[in-house]
Amino acid sequence: MRSLKWSTSHAVFVTEIDDEHKEIFQTVGELQRALSGENPLAGTRELTAQLVARIQDHFAHEERLMRAARYGSLRWHKQKHDGALKQVGQYVGRIETGDTSAALALVEYLTAWLHEHTRLADLMLGSFLRNHNRGLYKMSFQAGTKPLNACAWVDASGTKFNPAVRHSGY
Ligand SMILES: [Fe+2]
Ligand SMILES: [Fe+2]
Repeated sequence: MRSLKWSTSHAVFVTEIDDEHKEIFQTVGELQRALSGENPLAGTRELTAQLVARIQDHFAHEERLMRAARYGSLRWHKQKHDGALKQVGQYVGRIETGDTSAALALVEYLTAWLHEHTRLADLMLGSFLRNHNRGLYKMSFQAGTKPLNACAWVDASGTKFNPAVRHSGY
């Protein structure tokens, strides 16, 4: 079975999303290693519960970001999340009865699903969020207010300035 490793080909260039993806990929890897060990049952349930919780939190986080930014493809993206959660739930039900082949099937399913989903649906979302945030910066600059998460105002030459102080010569 191929293993899931996060690489820059999975990057969506939104740090908080990329960090959560890395954690999820890592947990899938841990589950895969546990399954190929001497005692596959030990720790499998715990790791599966951890993995499912991470995935649920992550999907909810992405959906919050989509709602806040009024993302047009929210329904399409959420349907993908819901479909994956349903499938994962079925594997988890079998794992809880001690079926280790279901844990193996879960790893295989998530390896393929996460690889595809991050490189298409999440990449599209990342690109939308970056443009959306750039738009917010521009709007607040034009309105003369400082964006909440801005550390400093920087002009085109990279020099810090205070937008509250009017400069002559502009
Ligand atoms: Fe997603
Ligand atoms: Fe994601």
